[in-house]
Amino acid sequence: MTVIGIDLGSHTASIAVWYDDKNLLEVLADDLGFRSIPCVVAFRGEETIVGHSAVSQQHKNTNNTFDEVRSLLFNHEQTHCTVPVLERDLTVEEVNSLFFRNIHNQVKQQAGKIIREAVVTVPSPLDEATKKRYIESAQAGGIRIKSFIDDSTATLLAYGFDDPNTGASRTLVVDLGWSRCTVSVYNVSSGAIVPVHTLSTTDVSGKIFVKLLADYCAKEFQRKHKIPCNDNKRAMMRLTRECEQAMKTLSTGGEAMIDIDSLCEGIDYSSKISRARFEDLLSIPIIHFKNLINNLLQQCSIDASSIQQICLAGGPSALPKIHSLLKSTFPNSHFPKVRFETSEAQAIGAAVHGKHLFELVS
Ligand SMILES: Nc1ncnc2c1ncn2[C@@H]1O[C@H](COP(=O)(O)OP(=O)(O)OP(=O)(O)O)[C@@H](O)[C@H]1O
Ligand SMILES: [Mg+2]
Repeated sequence: MTVIGIDLGSHTASIAVWYDDKNLLEVLADDLGFRSIPCVVAFRGEETIVGHSAVSQQHKNTNNTFDEVRSLLFNHEQTHCTVPVLERDLTVEEVNSLFFRNIHNQVKQQAGKIIREAVVTVPSPLDEATKKRYIESAQAGGIRIKSFIDDSTATLLAYGFDDPNTGASRTLVVDLGWSRCTVSVYNVSSGAIVPVHTLSTTDVSGKIFVKLLADYCAKEFQRKHKIPCNDNKRAMMRLTRECEQAMKTLSTGGEAMIDIDSLCEGIDYSSKISRARFEDLLSIPIIHFKNLINNLLQQCSIDASSIQQICLAGGPSALPKIHSLLKSTFPNSHFPKVRFETSEAQAIGAAVHGKHLFELVS
């Protein structure tokens, strides 16, 4: 049975497919070639727009654009979203179903067949009401959720710790995503994964890193042109989008260009950001990151030297600053070599879990 692994993050989703007939696991790219899809749904006239295309038009169509749509599933105070262009409200499940429908269509287009069964990642165990919202949204979008898997376990599966031939080790999982950072210690041995302890914080996140960079750029713009742009919502939205791209560039490159035509009052913005400058801006969240790690070790009474492996997940965990900090804190550890991006780990782990589920029944 072919199965989809969906990492449904607060900010972006990634899709992996396990093909049983080809014994192949593949991360899918969307029709624009991106391997992660922003969780954004927008409405323009009769048209529904999802993902990167929805992000591109967001600053011109804010009232009809809904970002971080997964987060809506967790907010039980909110049942509907008002969509002015449709002159009606949609339920939270309807908005999310449009996102799932887009995943369904992407898979159909690229796999060349309809695949309905999926395993979906979740940040923590879901209560029954939230589970129902996920299942209904997916079903309306053409996807049947076979099972949920938590983000950290999915990471370990992507790194192959389900393999019965793996030796015993103590492993740290660092999931640094858009909205939060979660660190977990596991004892793994012969395919068995035993959780020891987990801590999470919203004081360290991709969102905070990008905001610090966007604020820095806004200040630079004001200094150069004597025009404040940080209270201009549209300008800050465009700046944030470019800074997000710059953060990605800085995980491999030494510098990144940020260029925006007519950012504020018709004036263009252009700046070159070095990796060193970006890392300087992150000093406060980096302190929070160190504290998170220290608290984790303290609460499970283990020494840093006993961590043998570190598995990274989430886009911003690819930043060299995070890597070097972990390397110096955990001198006896290594980072297992993998062929995927950190942002793809959990979709892969979800597909591996799907594969195991179907192996059990067949
Ligand atoms: N190689 C990279 N280096 C730095 N940042 C990256 C990289 N790849 C992706 N990102 C950034 O990672 C962010 C999204 O991360 P991720 O997909 O892990 O978040 P998420 O799963 O939606 O969030 P959360 O887990 O908090 O719910 C985006 O801002 C993206 O630009
Ligand atoms: Mg995530």
